[in-house]
Amino acid sequence: MHTTISARQTQPAIFVIFGGTGDLNKRKLAPAIYNLFLENSLPADFALIGTGRTRLTDGEFSKSLLEGVNTFSRRGKVEKKQWDQFCGHIHYQVADLLQESTYVELGQRIGQLQAEWEQEALVIFYLAVAPNFFPVIAKNIAQHQLAENADNARIVVEKPFGRDLESARDLNVLLGELFEEKQIYRIDHYLGKETVQNIMAFRFANLLFEPLWNRNFIDHVQISVTEQLGVGDRGGYYEEAGALRDMVQNHLLQLLCLIAMEAPTSFAADEVRNRKVDVLHAMRRFSAEDVRMNAVRGQYGPGWMEGKEVPGYREEDGVDPESNTETFVAINFFIDNWRWQGVPFYVRTGKRLHQKASTIAIQFKDVPHSIFPPEATETWQQNRLIISIQPEMSIRLQLQAKRPGLEMTLNTVDMVFDYKGTYSDEAPEAYETLLLDTLVGDQTLFMRADQVEAAWELVMPILHAWQAKKSLNFPNYSSDSWGPEVAEGLIARDGFHWFTLPVNRKG
Ligand code: BG6
Repeated sequence: MHTTISARQTQPAIFVIFGGTGDLNKRKLAPAIYNLFLENSLPADFALIGTGRTRLTDGEFSKSLLEGVNTFSRRGKVEKKQWDQFCGHIHYQVADLLQESTYVELGQRIGQLQAEWEQEALVIFYLAVAPNFFPVIAKNIAQHQLAENADNARIVVEKPFGRDLESARDLNVLLGELFEEKQIYRIDHYLGKETVQNIMAFRFANLLFEPLWNRNFIDHVQISVTEQLGVGDRGGYYEEAGALRDMVQNHLLQLLCLIAMEAPTSFAADEVRNRKVDVLHAMRRFSAEDVRMNAVRGQYGPGWMEGKEVPGYREEDGVDPESNTETFVAINFFIDNWRWQGVPFYVRTGKRLHQKASTIAIQFKDVPHSIFPPEATETWQQNRLIISIQPEMSIRLQLQAKRPGLEMTLNTVDMVFDYKGTYSDEAPEAYETLLLDTLVGDQTLFMRADQVEAAWELVMPILHAWQAKKSLNFPNYSSDSWGPEVAEGLIARDGFHWFTLPVNRKG
């Protein structure tokens, strides 16, 4: 997590994007790199080399990125003068990832740029391709000595990092043989989100909450990442993944770690990552019976979203009409340590739900004794802290207060810290933060090998149980709903209900 602008990289830098013509580059990486350029966060000498199978000139490639930036950048359309300057840094290389010549040419291109700049550059190899290409690219980078100097070459690996524990381990072993751990950046874009980074600031830069942050005061925690979008054109990928692999193994467990971790001794990358992995180690490993009791799945059927008819998951392109893949997951996790024993952590995520919202709700225990008559407390609500990650960016503390009037009536009020009202600067996109971190060499917000494996260990029993037993009632929720009824049942059996923020629907 880059802290000051003085930590800014001045050494020349090259981003080599494998999958340069792909969606991720267009939507996220190129807009992020362009915004870093506009903010003067890149060195004067830098290059973006995109690779792809299509034959394109540098100019054609720049044009395709321009479309992406104009459509997806948080800053809207580019200004011609600035874009023209940026274009001078864009290069394209046609590449067959399986051919050695690709890496030879890449080496030559890097060599030419370095000769021009008269200085060795920092090279960031970004693997924005399908995961089956990770090993072949990594091997070739190493074999062609493109990452020889561990201080000057880094490799960014997109998710999914493996498709189960075994394949994640294999990939870690391979990368570990080819590179030093300090060169490997396993990305989880949730960690780059401004509001997610703020969880640590909120917890460890304020005295107030830490004494309450444990089983003595917290009743339960809910982590909810709901999406309105369906799988769209990613049906082929999603069929193989499902919500458990796509969201829970990475994003949701990372959010849970930030809420549940002990205070690290410093903000150093490994201190933070040690405390996060401790949480994963303390989480209860599920038996088959635990899975049955604590994990539920769902798949969306057709319906209407905001006045538009949308297909069910089984009707999406690239999806088996009898698919068993889950598009919704809810799990009750437990953390078996002194701080959290007995506190349920409910997580849920799903596509085609009623609202796009990522929220963490921490519900505190009830007061030990109420001094108020029952008629004063009809809308009684235990204190709640709600961290809203997106689209609303806020932290709100729900309190009981006296409603103005002659009678003693209590109701719930919110104390709100809202980014919009507090800061005029727009928050950077997650990928801007994370790409800058790769440049300055800060791995705090990236996954370490052991974290990835520990997270896989936790989801494996659920994956196994669901693979072994086909769900007989899919699709079991309609588009624009809050998911399957079993998800309500999971939390209702403990006397709770899923929390939703009354935000305007968006996204
Ligand atoms: C990605 C998943 O990692 O995260 C997608 O592959 C999901 O399926 C996306 O839609 C959600 O990210 P965000 O930033 O839109 O919440």
